Amino acid sequence: MKLLIKKGRIIEPSLGKDFVGDVLVENGVIVGIDSNIEISEKIQVIDASGKWVLPGLIDIHVHLRDPGEEWKEDIETGTKSALYGGVLRVACMPNTKPPNDSVEVTNYIIKKAKEKGWVEVYPIAAITKGQKGEELTEFGRLKSAGVVAVSDDGKWVRDSQLMREALLYAKQFDLTVISHTEDPKLSYKGQINKGKMSAKLGLKGVPASAEVVAAVRDLVLCKETNAKLHLAHISTKELIPFLKWAKEEGVPFTAETCPHYFLLTEEEVDGYNTYAKVNPPLRTAEDVEAIKLALKEGLIEVIASDHAPHSSLEKEVEFELASPGMIGVQLLLTLSYRLVEEGTLTPLKLAEYLITNPAKVINVDPPSLKKGSPAEVVIFDPEEKFVLTSEVIQSKSKNTPFLNKELKGKVKLVIRRKEVFTF
Ligand code: DOR
Repeated sequence: MKLLIKKGRIIEPSLGKDFVGDVLVENGVIVGIDSNIEISEKIQVIDASGKWVLPGLIDIHVHLRDPGEEWKEDIETGTKSALYGGVLRVACMPNTKPPNDSVEVTNYIIKKAKEKGWVEVYPIAAITKGQKGEELTEFGRLKSAGVVAVSDDGKWVRDSQLMREALLYAKQFDLTVISHTEDPKLSYKGQINKGKMSAKLGLKGVPASAEVVAAVRDLVLCKETNAKLHLAHISTKELIPFLKWAKEEGVPFTAETCPHYFLLTEEEVDGYNTYAKVNPPLRTAEDVEAIKLALKEGLIEVIASDHAPHSSLEKEVEFELASPGMIGVQLLLTLSYRLVEEGTLTPLKLAEYLITNPAKVINVDPPSLKKGSPAEVVIFDPEEKFVLTSEVIQSKSKNTPFLNKELKGKVKLVIRRKEVFTF
């Protein structure tokens, strides 16, 4: 099978290149990338003029809910959702049932992903057994089994000494510790951002300090241990000066945010909209602006979806009873593209945040369009508009505040090794 992609805008962060040109794929491998490739033989040609051609995305913050909550999502549907979004590799969080704190669960995920997965799946293991925050899991054995990082996502490791040990232990195995930065005493029973909206709706609020206190402690421990730390889903402007401090000090951390934190505000929950309930909560317009600036300045350098599927059983209930989280892996590029449209990031920077930087966090080689790389190619039409109906969503769950909204920018074609998918 030979396939020539013609005249696309090639955005390739591993090469640091953004230019109009052609990509040639043969038998699942990139065999040519140039401003003009001429082929005399008759082969399939894809006209990509006006479209972006980029390597597959890596989303390092995805909840596949498998094992244990397959009515919300499973490895097959979660990865299909990713494929439709041009996300060709996902790292899945360990807050499954049971949590992924063992080689057995890791093996299960890897095996099922091989059999049913539409994209590559990298398991992330829990930092502590049962995510209880008491005893560390066996990082070495877990790494040998295939995990790419450790995290107690959904929970912060409250015991500072244990977190310090986790960082040192992870360092021995070159694993990144991903922290869910939320001090549970400060966020206790919080439903939405603490501010105007929580006062209006009479809901208990989560103060910015819940995130700041947790993240700063972790940055201090990271500085002292010199281990790799990744801060998940940054939502508040109050943390940004501390990220700046840590960068200036050379602390080996990375920080991530998600599209909902640079596109949406607490206004979304007005009317008790449970689809906009998420943890950490959506905050204010000032927070949105600060997150965008932090992205622009490179203080936050990874964008991930925090794809958190919940069925109507968990969402169509009283606000206080609703589970936090929204789906997002299928929309990662579409929603992140807004940063380019409004001039916050260049296409190449965006591609770094969605491809090469997340790859560094989990220590894998990123998908690339370099000659000789396995074909992991995405064609994205930045102009195409579509309505996000529940039929369009490939996930089992439909919990997103973008449901039935018109969106701009659509993944049109994906090549994954020898397979070609058109959408
Ligand atoms: O809103 C959230 N949902 N935040 C998290 O950190 C966990 C996630 C989930 O697992 O549902």
